[in-house]
Amino acid sequence: MLRVYDDLQKLYADHDVHTGQDYNTLMAEALGPGLAYATPAMFGVTATVLSSRRMIAYNLVQNSIDEAKGAARIQVIADRYAADTPLERKMKRHVGEELKHSRQFKDLVTTTGYGTVDEAVDQDAADEVLDFDDELKAFICRVHSIEIRSWSVLRMYQQVLGENEFPQLTEAALPVLDDIMQDEMFHVRYTGQQIDEWLREDPSLATTLLECMSHTNRETWQDIAAMTSWLAQHFPRLLADESGDVALPDTRFLVGDLNPPATLT
Ligand SMILES: [Fe+2]
Ligand SMILES: [Fe+2]
Repeated sequence: MLRVYDDLQKLYADHDVHTGQDYNTLMAEALGPGLAYATPAMFGVTATVLSSRRMIAYNLVQNSIDEAKGAARIQVIADRYAADTPLERKMKRHVGEELKHSRQFKDLVTTTGYGTVDEAVDQDAADEVLDFDDELKAFICRVHSIEIRSWSVLRMYQQVLGENEFPQLTEAALPVLDDIMQDEMFHVRYTGQQIDEWLREDPSLATTLLECMSHTNRETWQDIAAMTSWLAQHFPRLLADESGDVALPDTRFLVGDLNPPATLT
């Protein structure tokens, strides 16, 4: 089980980041007991998903899509609300790194033994990604909560793939995950530092931060539930026969919600 709050503090200490009392108290609460992605349930579901080559392939495709969506949204908010500020520079770097991750995840797909067929991007779906608005502080709180989760889930991937069930895949994936990890730690850090700075100026941001943290947590519990019920239906067949189509669950951080549609070959 992960101790996310302790690990977060260690991450800050290693980079000489000193967050204040308000930030620390709030995050200790938000990342305390009940945090979905720190549970053995989350680890178990992740390890089960990563035990099938086809599930790994879907997972990589899904991550590739999510990274690109995330990059597009950060770009929009940076242009709209952070122009000509030091935060804009960090957000632009963040955009570039998420786009790099998108390519890195996609490039790993072939190591699973599957390939992908690119399908035409549905313009409505693309517009939907950008059809949102968020005030800058609320957006950064949301990003912070999601980056802490990505960083935590990535550590699970490293642990599970490190067990080397698929040696060729592990050999290719671990250095890539390590590279992505360095960037994710930057994303966690700069958003945390920014929120800490804002909280010192205006403690009322606490409400927004806690709401974003608990939203991500609720979403993660729902994803675990959706994934588990999907596994109950499909997993035995997936292990026995790695071909044929399966309908994927609608979860946000494991697999599913493929948009544009991805076809594995
Ligand atoms: Fe990323
Ligand atoms: Fe990230």
